[in-house]
Formats: sequence, C-alpha cells, structure tokens
Amino acid sequence: MNVPVKTNDLEAFWMPFSANRQFKKAPRMFVAADRMHYTTDDGRKVLDGTAGLWCCNAGHNRPKIVEAIRQQAGELDYAPAFQMGHPKVFEFASKLVNVAPPGFNHVFFTNSGSESVETALKMALAYHRVKGNGSKFRLIGRERGYHGVNFGGISVGGIVSNRKMFGTLLTGVDHMRHTHDPARNAFTKGQPEYGAEFADDLERIVALHDASTIAAVIIEPMAGSTGVLMPPKGYLEKIRAICDKHDILLIFDEVITGYGRLGAPFATDYFGVSPDIIVTAKGVTNGVIPMGAVFAKSKIHDVFMTGPEHLIEFFHGYTYSGNPIACAAGIGTLETYKEEGLLTRGAELAPYWEEQLHSLKGLPHVIDIRNMGLIGAIELEPIAGEPTKRAFSCFLDAFEHNLLIRTTGDIIALSPPLIISKSEIDQLFEILRGVLTRAA
Ligand SMILES: Cc1ncc(COP(=O)(O)O)c(C=O)c1O
Repeated sequence: MNVPVKTNDLEAFWMPFSANRQFKKAPRMFVAADRMHYTTDDGRKVLDGTAGLWCCNAGHNRPKIVEAIRQQAGELDYAPAFQMGHPKVFEFASKLVNVAPPGFNHVFFTNSGSESVETALKMALAYHRVKGNGSKFRLIGRERGYHGVNFGGISVGGIVSNRKMFGTLLTGVDHMRHTHDPARNAFTKGQPEYGAEFADDLERIVALHDASTIAAVIIEPMAGSTGVLMPPKGYLEKIRAICDKHDILLIFDEVITGYGRLGAPFATDYFGVSPDIIVTAKGVTNGVIPMGAVFAKSKIHDVFMTGPEHLIEFFHGYTYSGNPIACAAGIGTLETYKEEGLLTRGAELAPYWEEQLHSLKGLPHVIDIRNMGLIGAIELEPIAGEPTKRAFSCFLDAFEHNLLIRTTGDIIALSPPLIISKSEIDQLFEILRGVLTRAA
C-alpha cells in the first residue's frame, strides 16, 4: 500500500534529468520570473544566464505573450487537431513561415523538441517512400549529437549516457564522427578554423551502406546540449554537398539555434547553408507553452500532396499539434521578437559577449572557451576520477551567488535571454569569475 504523502512532499515528483536525491536534500526553487531574473522561494533575484533551458529568448513575463494566452484560454481552449482547424493555427503557421529561412513554406506543429525530431525523421522516411525510393530507410546522426529523448532521437543522437540504458534503439542508424578538436581549436572565437574534413566521414558511411539505403542526415548545426560545439569552417557546406550528391535529405535540428540565438533568425540563415527540414521548439513560444515546429521545403511537402483528396497524406500528428493556446503564445512571442528586434539582436551583442567571455581564459581549470552569437561555453578540466563534479559544483556556487548557469559534463554553457543588457553581461561574468576562481 502507498504511504500517504503530504501536500508538496518533494518525494512524489520524479524530476527529469536531475540528481533527485541531491536536489531534495537542498531544493533550489524558483517562484517567479520577470525579464532577466528569476525569484527564488527565499526572495533572491537570480540572473538568468540560460534563458530557462535555452528557450525564454525574450526573457520572462512578457506582456504580449501573457495577454495572448489569457485571452485565448477564455475564447477557444482546444480544438481537435485532426480533420478540424481553428484560425490561430493557420495564422501562426503563416507568420512563422515568414520568419523562417527562404524556401521553408510549410510547418508541422508538435509539442516539444523531441517530438519535432521524431516528426522530421518520419517525414524524411515517408518522403522517400512516397517518391518510390522505399529502400532509403537509414538515418544518419553524429556522435555527441542531442536530438531529445524519444527513441528516434536517442538513436540518431550520440550522447552515451542518454543511450546506454535503453536497449537496441532504432535499427538502420549510423553516426558520423563528432567535430570537437580541442588540440587544434581550443579558445577559438566563433567557427573553428580546423575540421571541415570531418564531414568526409559521411562519405565513409555512404560507401559502407550505399546511398540507396540512406534517407537522411540529422545534425545540430551548432551542437548545444553536448557542451556547445561549433561547426568548423566549411563543414556544413561539405555535409550539404555530400547529401545533394547522394539524394540524402539534410535535417538541421535548430531546437536551440532557432529564433535568434546566434544573432540571425535561424542557424540556417547564420551559416548560409540550407537543409531540407528544420526542427525547432523552445523559442517558438518563448518556452512558455510546450510547442515544437518542423519546417519543410515545398519539395518535401508537395510530394505528399498527391492521391485521392479524401485520404490522409501523412499518418502522423499529436492531439496537441497546433493547440490554440500554444499558437496564441507563439503569435505573442513572434510579435515580441519583431518589436524588439530580438531575432537579430544577438549579432549586435555578440562582440561584447565574446570579449567578456574570453576574458575568463587563464582562470583555474579552464581548458577551452567557445562562443557564437549569444552562446558561450567554458570547458573545465575534470576532477580526476570524478567527471562532471567540478562543473556541477560551479553550478551550485553560481546559484548561491544569484546566477543561473547550465552544465553538461564538465562544460558550463551560457545562453541568456536575448534582451540582456551590457551591464547584465558584465554582472554575469563578474559572478562567473568569482565562481571559477573559487572552484576546487
Ligand atoms: C538540439 C535539440 N534537439 C532536441 C531537443 C529536445 O527538446 P525537448 O526537451 O523540448 O524535447 C533539445 C533540447 O534541449 C535540443 O537541444
């Protein structure tokens, strides 16, 4: 029999991607948020150095978004997503394709980055099948890639701890090598000089499996969750060319890079390399309501639009695809981004951000610093025999000193809301300097 738990007992909630026992011994609780700051349950203001989880690009408690949600909830709370529609979903889709990179004229809604990844992978497989190329069934990912936590995503993903517990995963998947090369590229500002040739690994995989079996390649144009790895100069161009040569679709997972993070609306714009499908989530609603959006070029979409008109063209979708409240939040988000120029503001701040970030070079245990747009990463030498511990201690220390950072392995990742001011950038790095100076 279950032992009754008292209200707000911390035991009931099994926290995602968290050290549950450590947390519950010394909980860290946010009770409010406004613009660049969280408020803790003991009344401290904590500077948001991570835009929540890479998602609150416009900061917190933004009036347009709050009001849109409030209004929509009282007007149309839910409409069936299948075989029925509602105005907001069409309005939002039209507005989104207007900010999407050129050629991405269609958008499929999901509820998260993970679901967007599954959607893109299925879209790619079905695309080849509808075209009569059903033998193209393989999906190629990359070592150290993060594509969410569902089975397709962890199969094409390349983070060992996210994969090793979960059996055989999806079959027909292979991985290119990752692009991290600190021996040649440590302390690079922006795109690393060396490593375009890592893209040739895709040719090795094609030679092994034959192009006739490969449907798609999925990569993060800039790998975030593994610890912020920038694509070497020329790398993405090479991947694109190899995909073209072999009729392989290229999927960019822009769950982190989408909606202004690099100082351009999408990484696709930033790098000037255009994939066939773009996966997004997070910033699509400023993280406020769960939502994902998968963009497809007409060349993908139109292939499906054949056959008898009463038949469903793509057997895929979610109960909450294009949920009215999520769409309202998304429209409010886009308006906020546009009014404040947030989809490109990162470009203005990037040089200052870069300078402040790289001023941490030389502090104890810092073995690499990387940056692009409003993203920064500080890689620390792991404590011998205790990987991740040093960075996690920094995370706790930063929180004590009123700064929210994110750590993955022994890497500190920074991605503040795109509304951050220069003086808040100063403040962020001043706190971090203290943290790194104290780090054992
Ligand atoms: C590149 C990438 N893809 C997919 C995801 C998964 O998104 P979600 O946690 O919304 O499922 C993330 C989340 O961080 C991500 O960074």
